[in-house]
Amino acid sequence: MSIYSLNVPLDDRSYEIVIGKDFFSQWQDVPSIQPVLENRTCFVITDENVQKLYLKSVEQCLTNLGVRYLGDYAFLPGEKSKSLSTVKSLYEKMISAGLDRKSIIVALGGGVVGDTAGFAAATYMRGIDYVQIPTSLVAQVDSSVGGKTGIDLDQGKNLIGAFCQPKLVVVDTMVLQTLPIRELVCGLAEVVKYGVILDEVFFSFLEDNVSSILNIDQTVFQTIVRKCCSLKADVVTGDELDQGGRAILNYGHTFGHALEKLTSYTGLTHGEAIAIGMGMAADLAVMRYGGSELLNLVKRQDDLFQAFGLPVKFNKFSPEEILLAMAADKKCIDGNINFVLPEKIGKVVIDSGIEEDLIKQAIGARID
Ligand SMILES: NC(=O)c1ccc[n+]([C@@H]2O[C@H](COP(=O)([O-])OP(=O)(O)OC[C@H]3O[C@@H](n4cnc5c(N)ncnc54)[C@H](O)[C@@H]3O)[C@@H](O)[C@H]2O)c1
Ligand SMILES: [Zn+2]
Repeated sequence: MSIYSLNVPLDDRSYEIVIGKDFFSQWQDVPSIQPVLENRTCFVITDENVQKLYLKSVEQCLTNLGVRYLGDYAFLPGEKSKSLSTVKSLYEKMISAGLDRKSIIVALGGGVVGDTAGFAAATYMRGIDYVQIPTSLVAQVDSSVGGKTGIDLDQGKNLIGAFCQPKLVVVDTMVLQTLPIRELVCGLAEVVKYGVILDEVFFSFLEDNVSSILNIDQTVFQTIVRKCCSLKADVVTGDELDQGGRAILNYGHTFGHALEKLTSYTGLTHGEAIAIGMGMAADLAVMRYGGSELLNLVKRQDDLFQAFGLPVKFNKFSPEEILLAMAADKKCIDGNINFVLPEKIGKVVIDSGIEEDLIKQAIGARID
């Protein structure tokens, strides 16, 4: 059994990320899983897709660990479920199942389940423990690590939330085999992002393994998930509460969020929007700093996105409309937009005070 364990060191909020493949039947043999779960009462939160595929196996693992299983709840899949009304239903189910302050919640699913279940855990009886079992690629490389939990309001995404670190993250890359391809590709946009912002060697690894990645080769995904979790863990431990350093994770997101908002979160997946957004940010870097290294970055980034089937251009909306949507984003402080711009593959900077004309030009270059 090849299982890798990575520590996220955050004082008394430290936890392990356990990464393996096809190891549902072996959880009781993993030293970092046992102590978190044994002798606890637990409640599993999932969505209906993941429930059908994995709830039985997870229930079995938990029972093998000596957990007392109080019940589970599966909500409808999709972003619409990341809502106050889901959280209210969760609280009611949790109370009637008998969860107390010592119980532990298991979030089994993609980012929607992780964020919503994490928020329910952070607020139930003023906060109880939770464990993440991420099943989408986005959740395995991004949302399950870092302790951001929350829900959406009609007025916008992630407007209500709490920082609350999980007690444990257990990743089984085998579950990626049942993930719809568009969801896998969505996660790949975040994977590429880690390479561009932090690690050129990892970026090259992705370039060299495109077909294995699209075939969901387990050895390659073990490397990808380990690397992304380790890079995210480093960023999070440097800035747990998102006061500065964590901002680099927003590379491509300022542009991408605007595109998602303008398409009412239906036209583009988050991954597609941020792939185009990273293209805009890279173009802006070329216009602002110049140089052949950056031109090369734009080409390699575009080529890799296209190899994964991600878009790098867009054909709706004008640069003015996109800029307006960006200015309304919550990351725009005092009307001055902070941009995460690459200097070279593996290194980004935060830049602000950029003239509107240049921003519009960078956006325009990505509109067909
Ligand atoms: N907390 C954070 O730091 C953070 C970071 C990034 C994203 N997010 C949030 O994550 C959410 C997006 O997460 P997501 O992309 O995982 O979406 P999601 O949770 O909606 O999952 C995508 C789809 O895949 C299905 N699915 C999940 N795992 C599966 C599997 N193994 N096999 C088959 N189907 C499976 C789900 O049922 C769903 O239909 C957004 O709400 C976003 O705001 C949070
Ligand atoms: Zn993202």
